[in-house]
Amino acid sequence: MKSINQLFKDAYWKLFNSFCPLKGPLSLFGYSSFPYTVDDQFLEIRDNLLDSLFHSDKLNTFLYGKPNGTPVHFYDILSTHPALISCLSISHVSAIRQYLGAKSYLDAVYLSVIKATDHSNAFSNSSGLYHHDSVGHRLKLFVPLNSFGNTLFPTKYLASSHKIKWQTYLNQNNGYGQRIPPSIVSNYDEHIINAPFGSLFIFDTNGIHRGNYNHSTENRVILQFEFSKHSINPFGEVGPSTFYLSPFSFDYLSKLSLLRLNLISSDGQICKHVGLPHRSYSSSFALLSDFI
Ligand SMILES: [Fe+2]
Repeated sequence: MKSINQLFKDAYWKLFNSFCPLKGPLSLFGYSSFPYTVDDQFLEIRDNLLDSLFHSDKLNTFLYGKPNGTPVHFYDILSTHPALISCLSISHVSAIRQYLGAKSYLDAVYLSVIKATDHSNAFSNSSGLYHHDSVGHRLKLFVPLNSFGNTLFPTKYLASSHKIKWQTYLNQNNGYGQRIPPSIVSNYDEHIINAPFGSLFIFDTNGIHRGNYNHSTENRVILQFEFSKHSINPFGEVGPSTFYLSPFSFDYLSKLSLLRLNLISSDGQICKHVGLPHRSYSSSFALLSDFI
């Protein structure tokens, strides 16, 4: 039998998430893929960015000897490479808002470089085990920038697991290569979200999902966005985060009405979105301008 405390928590979770309409293309399975426009400018910027990352002595030194799955997240990517924001369009924003609601906003944006060149195929990242993120409904948008997209490392998602109020205790790494009991995983169809270069995907992290940390000849590079409805989330360290924008990327996101403008400060050259300064995994956050 549930304790009063647990009943209260369950009711609060339901209320907290009840304002999300959960409609549109994300509603059926909890995720969806979308194309975006890759023009010559985008391609040139992507090529130069990957070249600088793969030849960054500082980054290669940091990742040397580390297992696959080791991430570094650069939260100034839209300050150093503002034109990358062109992958985000009104149709993506529409899908996000049909799902989370009209008053949902961008919480975070960062470029993730994830080690994939260790030959052992062992991985260090617990997101490679089936899990949900224990924070209610919030969306992540992944833009895989490698020439093979994410096809060597496709995210896996348990279809239609996104509307369940999951118990947080189910989410702990039990030390046996599991976070979610196999008896629950087997209740759902496993979908593989393939996103070749030129497509992106959006998923509700309340659904059960896992990353993939296969060995490759190059590290994974993913532009990541996070969206949510609430500026404070009592269920975990999510919500508005700190990231940097150039005036161009600031204007672009402003036109899509995605910014929490009360959190923006500007010195004319750099706009700073000030949210949670540190997350529990903050040691993996860095500035790209320090690395390339
Ligand atoms: Fe996750």
